[in-house]
Amino acid sequence: MIMCGIVGFTGNKKSAPILLEGLSKLEYRGYDSAGIAVLNDGTIKTQKTAGRIKSLMDNTNGGETINGSVGIGHTRWATHGAPTTENAHPHLSGNKKFAVVHNGIIENYSLLKENLINDGFEFLSETDTEVIPHLLEKYYDGDIKTTVIRVTNMLKGSYALGIICADYPHMIIAAKKFSPLIIGVSSDCNIIASDATAIVNTTKDIIYLEDGEIAFIQPDNIEIIDENQKKIQKEITTISWNVAAAEKDGFEHFMMKEIFEQPKSVANALNGRIKNKKVVFENFKLSKEELQRINMIKIVACGSAYHAGMVGKYILEDMTRIPCEVDLASEFRYRNPIVNDKTLTIVISQSGETADTLAALKKAKSSGSHILAIVNVVGSSIAKLSDDVIYTYAGPEIAVATTKGYSTQLAALYLFSAWCAQNLGTISANDLEYFLNSVKSLPQKIKETIDCCGNIKKISKICIDSSSLFFMGRNLDYAVALEASLKLKEISYIHSEAYAAGELKHGTISLIEKGKIVIALSCYSDLSEKMSGNIKEVVARGANIISCTNEKSPVISNQYITIPDIDSRLIASLEIIPFQLFAYYVAYYKGLDIDKPRNLAKSVTVE
Ligand code: AGP
Ligand code: GLU
Repeated sequence: MIMCGIVGFTGNKKSAPILLEGLSKLEYRGYDSAGIAVLNDGTIKTQKTAGRIKSLMDNTNGGETINGSVGIGHTRWATHGAPTTENAHPHLSGNKKFAVVHNGIIENYSLLKENLINDGFEFLSETDTEVIPHLLEKYYDGDIKTTVIRVTNMLKGSYALGIICADYPHMIIAAKKFSPLIIGVSSDCNIIASDATAIVNTTKDIIYLEDGEIAFIQPDNIEIIDENQKKIQKEITTISWNVAAAEKDGFEHFMMKEIFEQPKSVANALNGRIKNKKVVFENFKLSKEELQRINMIKIVACGSAYHAGMVGKYILEDMTRIPCEVDLASEFRYRNPIVNDKTLTIVISQSGETADTLAALKKAKSSGSHILAIVNVVGSSIAKLSDDVIYTYAGPEIAVATTKGYSTQLAALYLFSAWCAQNLGTISANDLEYFLNSVKSLPQKIKETIDCCGNIKKISKICIDSSSLFFMGRNLDYAVALEASLKLKEISYIHSEAYAAGELKHGTISLIEKGKIVIALSCYSDLSEKMSGNIKEVVARGANIISCTNEKSPVISNQYITIPDIDSRLIASLEIIPFQLFAYYVAYYKGLDIDKPRNLAKSVTVE
């Protein structure tokens, strides 16, 4: 999972300027804090900031005031603990012999931390990462190799690690599991980085580390072992990318890169939260007893997060039998909603800073409601003000049009719905197991969906000259239609409207005329017959139908988009994928600025 950035350097010149330069190349990813650690004369020195890399540069004259030719650097995207200087990486062991930078999440950190505290180790940060330097100190037997192997074997979750040890004046150690890490090879130095952008200016010769591999890197020697601790020789690949292409991992736009990241992001959102056939949210304040008192769930959000909320409403009501309303935050804040201490308010926001959502949160809170936030950005205003937070762990999202942000919000909503149902007894053990197994299959199924979207380019070309088109669906298909329509509007500037299919005949059907493109979403198999009826109604008036179905819900259509089959409660997660790609390609063929559509901002912090 791509969280934020790592750089490491070992060579025959000062490392700090190179580390800072490398980190600044990773700035485009977004980060909340940064730091470097440099080894010189047996001592490790760190410089950290809760601000920008520029402030590290300013404090150290671009790194020139720090001596030492071996070092590691990090830009952090917080997952555990707010973005403060204390929580910024690198983290040191108590004896200051080890410094560690980490991307990813150590899932079993609480247990490891508890044991280390019992052993007398003192923690200076709230991060999961800090267990690693302490473990290295605890198990250090004078041999860095056996120690790193032993410690990494104890870690569950995802990591890309950069480590330096005061006893090894020329060495950086790199270890990888489920987070990217590469080694840049050069004649007089070697570099590690989480992303080629930080390296391509120095070298284009790269070794890609695989999961479970550990590299012990010196300026003139790289030793790599595989997950079975066998020494291996790895191929050096010469990349042809320039910096701009490297920023996007070779994709032309961030939006496409983020669409392709969805299997990983969703896996991350689920990671460690399904245990023994149950959903577990660590440190949740909402107790089973409090949940049992809840008689109304209100979901408040804006834009795509509101559309995720629409999906959440269908599933929460179905699984918990508690009435659930979804409100636009900008409406909720200026009406007189019925909210009290028996209401659970779910606030959904990728950025955690959206002004209307924040105001709605405050309003619900002041009426005594328990607030649960589903948020991507750790330490954001919405996260801070909420009673409970389910972080979505999507990683930084750069494209204005959200894709992985939305998908991970859905994942969080599925988990929360199952958590409620298991605590309220509104789901049978068998169904819970079936549902959670289906949820666990989502990353793979999303990948399959991306792979089977081969005809989307062709379908997009059919639509580029339309001035307006319709999306229609029922139930969850309708919720997805809302998001599909927004995606298309915001980046392709083509007007579209999402309609509940049964509602068309109450007025809007008068707009259907010969050749009008109607996109029929019909993956919710229980209602495919009803959808067939609605399709016939518009076909009779000349509509050109593009349908999205799975094999269980066939309909008659001019063009077909087919997605894999899955538990019908989870269709939104697959069905949205072709429409993200559809919006992308329509905008692409129209030659528009896909990542930064006109008039829009990534984070809407004004009313
Ligand atoms: C989605 O593609 C949009 N850019 C927008 O609707 C967004 O979802 C909305 O502004 C809410 O943002 P938030 O999730 O950061 O609160
Ligand atoms: N989980 C770590 C933290 O919160 C690393 C986050 C990252 O990948 O930047 O500090």
